Amino acid sequence: MTARLVVLASGNGTNLQAIIDACESKQIDAQVVGVVSDKHEAFALNRAQCHNVETAVVAAKPHETRQQYDARLAQIVSAWQPHIVVLAGFMRVLSNSFLSLYPNQVINIHPALPGELPGTHAIERAFTEFANGIRQETGVMVHFVPDEGVDNGPVIAQQTVRIHAADTLVTLEARMHATEHALVIDALQQLITQQKAPAS
Ligand code: GRF
Repeated sequence: MTARLVVLASGNGTNLQAIIDACESKQIDAQVVGVVSDKHEAFALNRAQCHNVETAVVAAKPHETRQQYDARLAQIVSAWQPHIVVLAGFMRVLSNSFLSLYPNQVINIHPALPGELPGTHAIERAFTEFANGIRQETGVMVHFVPDEGVDNGPVIAQQTVRIHAADTLVTLEARMHATEHALVIDALQQLITQQKAPAS
């Protein structure tokens, strides 16, 4: 059975694009059935629409609690009946009320190695640490999101990325993003294979 993916993205959507491309080329047996953004202007929405993927915007309302937001999000996402929900640059922390609906089904892409640099601007922070002589490498991980912890769930796939003396933040970012795009497909491949395996 082709895996149904819902992707949540707040920004550019290059990881979404990598996922759509891998589905269309049949590199993975999956289909992106919906994309949600919390930002009307997210370019990820344009990318989805270009590939005839349904989209929705769930923008935060003033004074809304995280649970209230997540309940609205869950209503949209659940209608697409996903097997896997991918957080691809989704800039909100999801509450347990949402996550408990999708046990072992929500995954996140984070541009740092496990246990390092949680939160935003991880590539920039790694590059600053390199410039200060306290780091030679960084990396990318794809992990499960079992709870409200930020960038720290069980790891599905990880890849180290060396930082070179000639790197600028721009060249490092380009290499990190290329690594993300490959790693998220590896992680999805693993999950899809596992979901297809008969329970023993
Ligand atoms: C990526 O660096 C991802 O690892 C992080 O947010 C960024 C999203 O980039 N969580 P894009 O929108 O997929 O281009």
